[in-house]
Amino acid sequence: MSFNLKDYLAVRQALVDRELEALLAREADAPAELIDAMRYSLLAPGKRLRPVLVFMAAQAAGGAEGQAIPAACAVEMIHTYSLIHDDLPAMDDDDLRRGMPTCHKKFGEALAILAGDGLLTLAFQVLADGYPAKTAAACCLALAKGSGAAGMVGGQVDDLAWENNDRPRSVTALEHIHEFKTGALFRACLRLGVIAAQGEHTDGPVRDLLDRLDVYGRCFGLVFQITDDLIDVEGNVADSGKQVGKDAARGKLTYPGLLGVEESRARAAALTQQALEAVSPLGAAGEPLLELMRFVLARDR
Ligand code: IPE
Ligand code: IPE
Ligand code: MG
Ligand code: MG
Ligand code: MG
Repeated sequence: MSFNLKDYLAVRQALVDRELEALLAREADAPAELIDAMRYSLLAPGKRLRPVLVFMAAQAAGGAEGQAIPAACAVEMIHTYSLIHDDLPAMDDDDLRRGMPTCHKKFGEALAILAGDGLLTLAFQVLADGYPAKTAAACCLALAKGSGAAGMVGGQVDDLAWENNDRPRSVTALEHIHEFKTGALFRACLRLGVIAAQGEHTDGPVRDLLDRLDVYGRCFGLVFQITDDLIDVEGNVADSGKQVGKDAARGKLTYPGLLGVEESRARAAALTQQALEAVSPLGAAGEPLLELMRFVLARDR
């Protein structure tokens, strides 16, 4: 029977939500209002694409799904923290996320900042707690690199720096922002899946897999952010669960803003093709990754 992405996603989304809930419940000594704010954003209906990438990479590396669960939860915590902070008045100043009021609208700015801090920290705790020491260290390193100053956080800095400035705008500058603010975490998800499946030994055949996944991840990240930018131009609040039309209003450097909608779509389609070519040689083990890439190209939320 051929692979059914819809069913695959529904099962993993439910699994991740259960695990995230259980991990929060274990923080019994934390202030209740802090856990409430963390839970509110973490368990809001996100797509859980990053955990799914961890599972798919682990599968491509021949691992069992159970091995990937702590890593899958850790990346969703990092991602959710980044959304909480991204929505703050000092950043994109948004009041709707995942179809609900943003964390700071619901709990106030101070608690939203701290809920983000709590999720960021808990992510590394979950890795340290969930794997043998060397695997945990390798996971922490990969996640720190992908999400930190030379990864996602750095990309967020560049994204804000390019708001409403008069520097010459180019595809190179745009893709640099996208690769860091969005792509770096996706690439880390794929590495984490492989490390979770293989332990810290990432030489030999695993090296080839990592290289293929890195090409896939780079293209996936760009397509994901192009479609995110397109949703902001062409999408609606009901489907996307967030306000639209914000990027142009804030003078962001985006694909549709720079190249127009048609050329953005063409670029996304070309990058999708590149991603598919990178993982096609994996055969059946890579099929979920192929389907997910196609899904992201066509998404409206
Ligand atoms: C939105 O990410 C933020 C970006 C990196 C562009 P998602 O579209 O994956 O958000 P959720 O997790 O489904 O809410
Ligand atoms: C957010 O990018 C990237 C991160 C949170 C790291 P955007 O600012 O484009 O995301 P949305 O559109 O608010 O979801
Ligand atoms: Mg932003
Ligand atoms: Mg934003
Ligand atoms: Mg956006």
